[in-house]
Amino acid sequence: MTNRISEILNIEKPIVQGPMAWITNAEFVSAVSNAGGLGILGPNAGQVDVTRSPEKTAERMRTEIQKTKALTNKPFGSTLIVNGDLTYTWPILETVIDEKVPVVLVNGILDEKIFKPLKENNIKIIFRPQTPTIEDAKAAEEMGADIYVATGFDEGGSVPERIIGTFSIVPMIADAVNIPVMAAGGVGDVRGVRAAFALGAEGVFAGSVFIPTKENPAAENVKQMIVDATAEDLLLFRTWPAYYRSLSTKLANNLVEMDEQNASPKEIAKAMGLAGALRFGMLEGNTNDGIVSVGTGITAIKEIRTVKEVVDSLMQDFK
Ligand SMILES: Cc1cc2nc3c(=O)[nH]c(=O)nc-3n(C[C@H](O)[C@H](O)[C@H](O)COP(=O)(O)O)c2cc1C
Repeated sequence: MTNRISEILNIEKPIVQGPMAWITNAEFVSAVSNAGGLGILGPNAGQVDVTRSPEKTAERMRTEIQKTKALTNKPFGSTLIVNGDLTYTWPILETVIDEKVPVVLVNGILDEKIFKPLKENNIKIIFRPQTPTIEDAKAAEEMGADIYVATGFDEGGSVPERIIGTFSIVPMIADAVNIPVMAAGGVGDVRGVRAAFALGAEGVFAGSVFIPTKENPAAENVKQMIVDATAEDLLLFRTWPAYYRSLSTKLANNLVEMDEQNASPKEIAKAMGLAGALRFGMLEGNTNDGIVSVGTGITAIKEIRTVKEVVDSLMQDFK
């Protein structure tokens, strides 16, 4: 069974694994693509340490893209790091064009300068803003985005600024544009997928459900924490640019406390060290200095599975 998303992305099942800082690599991403979905290499894919050099960041991404190509002949994607002055964006943009990566996830900023070279090179654009709005979705469509991701407040990672759940944001955006919309945030099992489609989505964009898998590079204790937890265990705190969630860690509890004491979002982000907290928590399994960021759909996750088992289970209606 095909639909607009599977046709645009040239995949079997309309499910995309969202990029996740530090916890994607070639083995994981190719496993998603080999299972019939679309895997996306995220920021710091395959890395264990930090570089602040835009050129080195792009070079590392090129290596991971080449490794992914060796592991799958199915389409996969790469994320563009769209920072304010685009210093990180240009070297990665050149790399994805050069390596002929079929799909690029553009997040955050809508910019013609980024869209144009991607379109000229026939690269499909999935656009996912931090906070979806009707106006932004129309602008993205106008600019040539192939797919728009409507992310609800339920998501893992950096949560949208507006407190609108996936159940409400998906139909709102799907009614506003003609390009296909994917639902992100809180999809934990096949019921979430069915609900997303009932609300007007033509595909699902998921992160958390793919973390407790054999192929994901997250630390083993983090995978087990997710399996053992329910949405009731999640802490939420204001940071910059908006909110983050975490399962209970020492740092996460400190950040909640800072928030309760009215620390500014920038101060909280500084204490979180943004990427640092994810690297220490998710990748290294350090529950003192890190956070374990996941969405509210985790209650349904009961065991560590293979990526293929997750895709087959979520997409059981797409044969
Ligand atoms: C640990 C973690 C890190 C993430 N890092 C990024 C990122 O660097 N860039 C990005 O665009 N999205 C990031 N995301 C968001 C995912 O791509 C996806 O939109 C989200 O996980 C969907 O919600 P779900 O986790 O409820 O499935 C991250 C999500 C998680 C859980």
